[in-house]
Amino acid sequence: MTLTPRQQREIDYHRAYAAGKETERLKPVNFDVIEDDRRRPHNAFWSAYDRLLAHDLRNKRVLVPGCGFGEDAIRLARLGAIVAAFDISPEVLDIARRRCADFGYSGVTFSAMPCEALSFPDHSFDIVFFIDILHHVDIPKSVAEIVRVLKPGGRIIGNELYTHSFLQKNIRESWLVDKALYGAMKKFIYGDDRPYITADEHKIDEREFAHLENACASFDAAWFNAFVGRLVPDKSTAASRLDRGMMKLLGRSGRFAAGRVVFEGVVGAALQ
Ligand SMILES: C[S@@+](CC[C@H](N)C(=O)[O-])C[C@H]1O[C@@H](n2cnc3c(N)ncnc32)[C@H](O)[C@@H]1O
Repeated sequence: MTLTPRQQREIDYHRAYAAGKETERLKPVNFDVIEDDRRRPHNAFWSAYDRLLAHDLRNKRVLVPGCGFGEDAIRLARLGAIVAAFDISPEVLDIARRRCADFGYSGVTFSAMPCEALSFPDHSFDIVFFIDILHHVDIPKSVAEIVRVLKPGGRIIGNELYTHSFLQKNIRESWLVDKALYGAMKKFIYGDDRPYITADEHKIDEREFAHLENACASFDAAWFNAFVGRLVPDKSTAASRLDRGMMKLLGRSGRFAAGRVVFEGVVGAALQ
């Protein structure tokens, strides 16, 4: 497999990242998001799971791209799905596999491959579940591959970082935010002076998101985090509720302000 320079940089970054996270990640997976009846619809992550939980996943073939340390893949297997999970970083996958071995999680097959060139045959999966991966990959190539490996009528569900290009260019990349405010605020927002951000990642914008939308016969998106995760940490429930309430009022226009998008699409058939 020939890797692009970007893919190689991702592997190198995550080798060091995995080494620093070994103790933290070799712990049991938290299953609250699939087992707790008190739902959190204001939270993008919980909202993506709400969409998954609306479907019977038993014996469904589910693909988890850029699976990281395996949490989502393991949760989906607990819901009865037959899960294939992949990541470009071998060291990250080692931790995911060891975690399954240590805690007896089963039902997931982990493999190393890039999202842009999948080794699965055409029409292999019922559902693809994206969590925080699209901002690391070549979107047109990855979307084409995902559509290829989905069965006709297959479903794409996800929760991804997003920013509209107008906001990115005129506010986030403005001198005031980039040079004056960001450095001072990142510890408050991310809880860390050196947040987990690779050299090439960038939030997907409306043009990149359109590749996903256009690949689907039907598509639905909900917008989150206009100020949560940007101006205040995403741990604040009150701020998340307020933010999501505001996004709902904005409806489709929420896409101009959102920092996250939760989506569900169906390839080659109407959304039900
Ligand atoms: C932000 S992490 C998300 C991991 C996981 N989805 C989660 O939510 O915890 C991004 C992951 O994408 C992987 N990755 C980066 N570029 C990739 C690519 N081109 N193909 C597949 N995986 C990639 C990284 O190794 C990393 O594990």
